[in-house]
Amino acid sequence: MNAPLAINAFVSAAAITLGDMSVPIARRFAKDLSALAGTAGAGAPARVPACRHLDQPHLVDRAVSSAATLNRAISNAQTQMCWRQSCRPDAPDLYNENHAFVEVVGPDGHLAVDGIRFGLFVLGPEVYYPPHVHEAEEFYLILSGTADWQQDDEAYRPVPPGQIVHNASLQPHAMRVNDEPLIVLWGWCGDIGWTQYRFV
Ligand SMILES: [Fe+2]
Repeated sequence: MNAPLAINAFVSAAAITLGDMSVPIARRFAKDLSALAGTAGAGAPARVPACRHLDQPHLVDRAVSSAATLNRAISNAQTQMCWRQSCRPDAPDLYNENHAFVEVVGPDGHLAVDGIRFGLFVLGPEVYYPPHVHEAEEFYLILSGTADWQQDDEAYRPVPPGQIVHNASLQPHAMRVNDEPLIVLWGWCGDIGWTQYRFV
């Protein structure tokens, strides 16, 4: 499968999965992504070390809606995606080689659109992603692995595959990954700039 086809198939599969969720922000992204069908375009593939966590057959837990289709779509598309890792000077070293993200849809995405960012995010086992904020409203849909998640200064709670974490604009949030890699769909809407992204 060539790159535009594979990436487009991923976006379509993600739209189906998100459309089955009851959380409004997921349904909103399902609608936005469906409207992009057939437009997959630019962007050369790139890999970072944490992409090694994608080189295995089971990327999407069966608790996730339409898991088999989404699993296949990610497997086919992940080698065509432009993966990145944080290069922020304040990013903790412990996850620099143990996290990867790709913006598939958005101003910097394979599908260039304004107003939203959407993609995949991978964190390796035992990684701690400390409390941080950003101006965008955000969702994460857990595809596989389990992390303990925190919002504001509440206690950490495990969020299993198939569930969504929804963060308001500038709401502090953090996660600690358990013993398996964490693979999630993520989406940003509202103010999707990076200027207020910071650890808190
Ligand atoms: Fe976030």
